[in-house]
Amino acid sequence: MNEKINLRSQRKNEHVRHALDQPSQTAMSDFENIRFVHQSIPSVDMEDIDLSTRIGPFEVSRPLYINAMTGGSEWTREINRKLAEVAQATGLPMAVGSMHAALKHPELSNSFTIVRDRHPDGIVFANVGADVSLEGAKRAVEMLRADALQIHINAPQELIMPEGDRNFKSWRANIENIVEHAGVPVIVKEVGFGMSSETLQILKDIGVKHADVSGRGGTNFASIENIRREKADMAYMSDWGLSTPISLLEAQPFLEDMDILASGGIKTPLDAMKCLALGAKAIGMSRLMLEQVEHHGIEAAIEHVEQFHHQMCKISIMINAQNIEEISSRPIVLSPEIISWQRQRSLD
Ligand code: FNR
Repeated sequence: MNEKINLRSQRKNEHVRHALDQPSQTAMSDFENIRFVHQSIPSVDMEDIDLSTRIGPFEVSRPLYINAMTGGSEWTREINRKLAEVAQATGLPMAVGSMHAALKHPELSNSFTIVRDRHPDGIVFANVGADVSLEGAKRAVEMLRADALQIHINAPQELIMPEGDRNFKSWRANIENIVEHAGVPVIVKEVGFGMSSETLQILKDIGVKHADVSGRGGTNFASIENIRREKADMAYMSDWGLSTPISLLEAQPFLEDMDILASGGIKTPLDAMKCLALGAKAIGMSRLMLEQVEHHGIEAAIEHVEQFHHQMCKISIMINAQNIEEISSRPIVLSPEIISWQRQRSLD
């Protein structure tokens, strides 16, 4: 294996290792700053609850998906295999991690294609960065026979990495071109820094129909990129970004025209329900699923997903809502801190 491939594989492994070791970021997730209003006399039974949803053109029976993480090394191939088996057993869509490694070094492609092998009829998302060429984006989709393409936008991560990208001006036109010509639905996603209304406006203007706000409060790439090197230049940036609930508030003006997906710091079914209440169409989970397959195994991970969905249904009854649409119209109460953000951002 040549040195470049070795370095890439090593970076992929380090991301996984540090994500698994990262202390919980719950305090930065803002989920505790949003509360449902309990309803004592529900008018629905458990069997009435239907949390089916649409992610772009895809009808899914559960509003959950396994979000982008990895691929590009032996270890991460194995992780992708396990995640794909969980996706297959539970019917969840699954995204792979950034496929640039496989685009540059085809010998690494089987660490991604294993996902299609193990999730043959399921919904699979390819994943590339915003600087990928149109031809590269199309190859990534073909490699997986992917149903949709995720484009990740990760400027803080690139900037904190000494070897990271420094050129961002071309992203907007490049994403626009890929959305127009990719031939599959394109989901633009953050990687844990959240999205502002300004970002969403740009995405809307260039024709993006699906955005995953992926907010602060879960996996924290500002911290991971600092921990990965001996001299942590920008360690003070660890609370950078918008939390997932704040991102969803920023997204309110766009709910009509775009599918807004939520990820970043989802730990409990209650967190997921709060995202649905704020208008998200579906909820992506990365770190939680990684932890499940790596620390508890495939069977436990499958059971975790089943229980997660089941408990979302129970909470739905507690707020007297039968489906996603009703959940999104149920009252929520925001903390003064969140209201202050809303006021200053003129979102109320
Ligand atoms: C990620 N994430 C990510 N996202 C992406 O679009 N392409 C990628 O290659 C990766 N790589 C990656 C590696 C690892 C180990 C993790 C844990 C995550 C980001 C991911 O999709 C998600 O946006 C964030 O992790 C926030 O969600 P969680 O982890 O808080 O559920």
